[in-house]
Amino acid sequence: MNILKLPERKRKQDKIVMITCYDYTSARIVEQSDVDMILVGDSAAMVMHGHNTTLPISVEMMAWHVASVRNGAPTKFIVGDLPFLSYRKSLSETMNAVGQLMQAGAESVKLEGINGNEETIRHIVDSGVPVMGHIGLTPQSVNQLGGFHVQGGNAADRDRLKTEALTCQAAGCFALVLECVPETLAAEISAALTIPTIGIGAGAQTDGQVLVMHDLLGLNQDFRPKFVRRYLDGNRQWLDAFNQYASDVRDGSFPASEERYAG
Ligand code: KIV
Repeated sequence: MNILKLPERKRKQDKIVMITCYDYTSARIVEQSDVDMILVGDSAAMVMHGHNTTLPISVEMMAWHVASVRNGAPTKFIVGDLPFLSYRKSLSETMNAVGQLMQAGAESVKLEGINGNEETIRHIVDSGVPVMGHIGLTPQSVNQLGGFHVQGGNAADRDRLKTEALTCQAAGCFALVLECVPETLAAEISAALTIPTIGIGAGAQTDGQVLVMHDLLGLNQDFRPKFVRRYLDGNRQWLDAFNQYASDVRDGSFPASEERYAG
């Protein structure tokens, strides 16, 4: 996968599959899979570090996650998420953040929203770094949006999101994440753009899909919006394994004779 292959995938309606990933061990498994791209998302703040929002994670922490994923998935295309405010302070700080993620092993970066970001996107792209856009529910703006909920609910919002999508494309984004928007709006935006759209909670008409790894593995019991499909009952299976281990230790069946060093 590279950014030159994406427009053809869109033309052929060959869906693009992206998953989030944050660590070496999981990345090794994604590396063996048919998934096209990895997003080292700032959702790491929530699913890896236990925060309620994506805001607390730093550029340095994101760079560690990108490097770990790169070590586990040497051939996958990696998108590194620029964290909260890291691209809003100055061009110099933005490029420092971009540099850290790219030098950690990403092949592109993602940033949220377009208002005030157009020039930044152009500069990053002109510097040789592909940029993925992200509109709709932009979790870094959760306090401005008043929570995590579906966007594009009225005609004005729909028009605004269509304009934002076109502006992301014009600024040079190679792809666009559409998060939590009605399917009809996602379909209209996808048809209007030449760059691929990657949906999460945006219906089936986008050019690709992304899910947070912990959601699709069923590792997160507290969080289940309707767009999440669980492919594993991970919470139950991990819990069963931990409890079986505890029971085996307590009843003396672990370690067995073949699990001990003789002599
Ligand atoms: O950080 C993340 O996981 C994301 C996806 C939800 C698109 O931005």
